Amino acid sequence: MSLEEQIYIRKSCRKYLDDEIDMNIIHDFMKSAKPLDDDLKYHYEIFEKDEVKVRNRWSAPYYLALFCDKKEISKVNVGFVFQQLSLFLQSHGIGSCWDGLDSVKGKKPVILIAFGKSNEMTREISSFKRKSLDKISDFEDERLRPAQLAPSAINLQPWYFRHADEVFDVYQVRQNVLKRKIVKKWNPIDVGIALAHMYVANEEKFEFYIKSDFDKLDGYIYIGSIKI
Ligand SMILES: Cc1cc2nc3c(=O)[nH]c(=O)nc-3n(C[C@H](O)[C@H](O)[C@H](O)COP(=O)(O)O)c2cc1C
Repeated sequence: MSLEEQIYIRKSCRKYLDDEIDMNIIHDFMKSAKPLDDDLKYHYEIFEKDEVKVRNRWSAPYYLALFCDKKEISKVNVGFVFQQLSLFLQSHGIGSCWDGLDSVKGKKPVILIAFGKSNEMTREISSFKRKSLDKISDFEDERLRPAQLAPSAINLQPWYFRHADEVFDVYQVRQNVLKRKIVKKWNPIDVGIALAHMYVANEEKFEFYIKSDFDKLDGYIYIGSIKI
C-alpha cells in the first residue's frame, strides 16, 4: 500500500506489541523525507519506554523525540516531516501516535511520537471524526480530503485553507484564551501534519512557499501557501 492510501485508514495507535524494531528502517526513510524548506533544521532521537516519563494512560515500546528551534515554522516543518514517517511506519506494520504529554528526562523535545509494532492501527473511513470540508476551507473542495483526515492534538484540526488563484493559502486557527494555554505549542505541528497529507497525496506537484503579501484573516494566522 502507498503512503497516500495510509491516510484513509490510519488511526492513532495506542496498543502495541513488544516486538523489537530494527531502527535502520527509520534512519533510511528519514534520508528521503521532504522538509518544507531545506533551511529548516530538525533532528530526532529514539528512546525506549523505560527512558520516558509516561503520563498517557497507555505506553509504547519506543519513542521518537523531535527537536527544532523555537520558530513556529520550524514546528510546522517537524509536523510535516514526521507525519511522512508515521505514514511510512504504518505501511510497515508499525503503529504510532503523536504524543504531547510524555517527556524524556533531561531533554527538551518539541514533541514525541510513540511507536511500535501493532495490530491496531487501521480503521474504516466512516469512523474518522473530522470537521466537514466546508469548515476547513472557504468552500468545499474534495482536493482537501487528505488534510481533513489528518490527526491533531485533541483532534482540534486547527487548519484552514483559502483558495487564492492557483494555490491554497494555509492558515492556523487562532485559539481562544482557554484553549490557547493547552494547545498553542502543538497547533503549528498540527498544521504541518495536515500539509504532509497534502504532500503525500500530491507528491509530484506539491510546492510550499511563504507569501510576503498574504491576506490577513481575522481569527487566523497565515502559515504559508501550497500549490498542488
Ligand atoms: C501534536 C499532537 C499531540 C498529541 N498528543 C497526544 C497524547 O499526548 N496522547 C494521546 O493519546 N493522543 C495524542 N494525540 C493524538 C490525537 O488525540 C489524535 O490524533 C486525534 O484525536 C485524532 O484521532 P486519530 O489520530 O486516531 O485520527 C496527539 C496528536 C497530535 C497531532
